[in-house]
Amino acid sequence: MDIKFRVRGLKFDDGPKLIKLYYGYYDELRHGNKELGLTLFRKKPTYESEIDWFTGAYKGFLNGSKIAKVAEAGGKVVGLCDISTSRPDSEMDHVGLLGIAIMDGYRGSGIGTALIGAALKEARAKFEIVRLGLFAGNERAMALYKKMGFVEYGRMPRAIKRGKRYFDEVFMYTDFGAKRPKRDT
Ligand SMILES: CC(C)(COP(=O)(O)OP(=O)(O)OC[C@H]1O[C@@H](n2cnc3c(N)ncnc32)[C@H](O)[C@@H]1OP(=O)(O)O)[C@@H](O)C(=O)NCCC(=O)NCCS
Repeated sequence: MDIKFRVRGLKFDDGPKLIKLYYGYYDELRHGNKELGLTLFRKKPTYESEIDWFTGAYKGFLNGSKIAKVAEAGGKVVGLCDISTSRPDSEMDHVGLLGIAIMDGYRGSGIGTALIGAALKEARAKFEIVRLGLFAGNERAMALYKKMGFVEYGRMPRAIKRGKRYFDEVFMYTDFGAKRPKRDT
């Protein structure tokens, strides 16, 4: 399917659109996609807590601690890719953690490739390593990450529990190489 889309940085007024996108994953899971490769909260978060999430994310985007790219198609936000450190100001702040998801109906059209490409391009200036986790068996995600240079470094059996069903989690990383420390001149 040929879908027209564009990838851009996060904007303040993306908040409601991103919350709608995120809530859509709960609907997708509820309506039968039991394989959906996203780890969701057991209870759908309230709109209020989503606003808190977005405020934090946007703050991170503004202060440069978070990379956030969105994909837009037909006036809708249909995907998000973000990279941020899970351990700010620590001896692990050179490692970014990546997350990505595209709206149902917009997958398999190159949007994920474009989004992650744009995020990784920026990540090179900020991080030395980018890591992620995915559901074992998420073939499309695995193909995408391999294509973008990620390699597998481990697997946790039964890491994700969805109802009575368990999924293994596979861990991948890409290493841009060490950055030279800034010299005082
Ligand atoms: C995984 C995801 C982000 C990929 O984004 P996407 O826009 O669907 O991916 P793309 O169309 O850019 O395709 C990426 C690669 O996946 C592979 N791919 C595409 N369609 C596929 C399919 N139906 N089955 C298996 N692999 C497929 C191809 O290798 C493709 O690259 P290529 O076209 O250059 O060969 C997206 O499908 C998604 O959001 N899925 C649900 C949530 C999720 O799993 N997120 C990942 C969390 S770790």
